[in-house]
Parts: sequence; C-alpha cells; structure tokens
Amino acid sequence: MNSPILSVRALRKTFTLHTIDGRMVTSLHGVDLDVAEGEHVALAGPSGAGKSSLLRCVHRSYLPDGGTVTLRTDDGPVELTSLPDRDMARLRGRELGYVSQFLSAPPRTGPMDVVAAAGRRRGMSRSDARAAAADSLRRLALDEALWDVDCSVLSGGERQRVNIAAGTVNPPRLLLLDEPVSALDPANRERALELIASLSAQGVAVLAVFHDLDAMRRLASRVIRFSEGRIAQQGSALDVLGAAA
Ligand SMILES: Nc1ncnc2c1ncn2[C@@H]1O[C@H](COP(=O)(O)OP(=O)(O)O)[C@@H](O)[C@H]1O
Ligand SMILES: [Mg+2]
Repeated sequence: MNSPILSVRALRKTFTLHTIDGRMVTSLHGVDLDVAEGEHVALAGPSGAGKSSLLRCVHRSYLPDGGTVTLRTDDGPVELTSLPDRDMARLRGRELGYVSQFLSAPPRTGPMDVVAAAGRRRGMSRSDARAAAADSLRRLALDEALWDVDCSVLSGGERQRVNIAAGTVNPPRLLLLDEPVSALDPANRERALELIASLSAQGVAVLAVFHDLDAMRRLASRVIRFSEGRIAQQGSALDVLGAAA
C-alpha cells in the first residue's frame, strides 16, 4: 500500500453522561486504521459500535480523548487532534469532505450557493465553483428549479443530494461519509453511488458508513467491522460481509 492519506492510531473517545449520574460511555477503545489514496474503506457493524464516532473524531467534530489522527497534505503530515481550531477549520474546508445524513445549510441559502461555497473553500474561483456546482447538482439530478430555493424547504432526499454535492465538489483528499444515501430513492441512490465510485478512481480516499450492504459490496475496497468500539474484523467485502443473498 502506498503511504496512507489518513492514519489513525490508538484513537479513544469517551463520553460522560451528565444526565445519568456522570456515567462514562467509551465509543472508541484505541482504534488503529489507515486509508490510502484511492482506497474506499467501509465501516460496518451494529448501531452503537462506534462508526460515527470515528468519522467525527477524524473530522474533529468530536475531540478524541487519546490517540492521533494524521492526514497527509501537500505540506506534509498534519496531526489533527492537536491542530489549532483555525487551522482545523481551514483544513476541513480544503482537504476533507464530510457528508452526514443531514444537511446543515446556513439559513436562506439555496443548493447552488451551498455547493459553490464548498468549491470555493477548496480553492476554486467563483465562476469555476458555480460551474462545478452546476455539474454536480445536475449529475445528482437535482431539479434546476430548486437550485436557488432555500434549502430548508427541500425534501430529505433533495437535501441529501445537496449535501453529497457539497462534500464532493472539487474533490477533497479525504471524503468522510456517514450514511449519505439513506433518504434516496433507488434511481437517485444509484446516481450518488456512481459519483462516489468515480471519486475513488480519481485518487480520493474514502472512509464511509453505509446502512446497506449492497453499497459496501459495490464500493468498498476494504471493509472494517466494528464491535463495541473496537475493530473486530477487516478484509474484502466478500470476506467480511459474505456473498449477496
Ligand atoms: N454525543 C454523544 N454523547 C454520548 N454518547 C454518545 C455520543 N455519540 C455517541 N455516543 C455513544 O457512543 C457509542 C457509539 O456511537 P456511534 O459512534 O454513534 O455508533 P454507530 O455510528 O456505530 O451507530 C454509543 O454507545 C453511543 O451512544
Ligand atoms: Mg452512526
């Protein structure tokens, strides 16, 4: 494997549940994993196993309690857990695409503005960003009549497509996906999976959670199964998930 884009070492995350007598819940018990350029690593395992916690610790929307998260950039390796907030914000815009199930768009902004803004953060000029945003929205078949409509009035599936377009426009080095197609109908899900597959071919490293096994079988070059905050198994989709029914 060529040198990884992402290296996670001994990652630990613990939550203190203040509402329940300060009880502690550990969602990651010291996780090690690497993702190489062009590799698509899918995280499998039951609900509560720690998959989202891992993605959030890499994106640093959760600050881990221990361990390191190292991203390879043009300026060399950067350790994200100790990076100042401002540098982290800049890096998030430029190098990381994070697509969760839910779009969080600023009030009174439409799909075109949301996706073009993501392109601009990744270094595109204003006009290139709008052109790339249009390409992306078209590719995901978002009706052009909706491009300037406030995102808050869109349906769940429409919002999800805007989110995918924003996360992937002018592709980042590392794409983090947390159930990005959960609200899509079959035809739109297909378009989204094709878009994601095409990014791997361009060298984008992907770390993803999909709720359906079919998506993992199609896209993943490696599947890691989590259980109770630890890696329980990893290998090809066939090895970890078995053959399709
Ligand atoms: N913000 C949070 N506060 C408290 N506990 C959390 C929080 N986020 C996750 N957890 C707990 O961490 C564990 C792993 O959750 P999560 O990473 O969301 O799992 P998965 O994505 O695999 O379903 C669960 O026990 C969950 O309740
Ligand atoms: Mg989750």
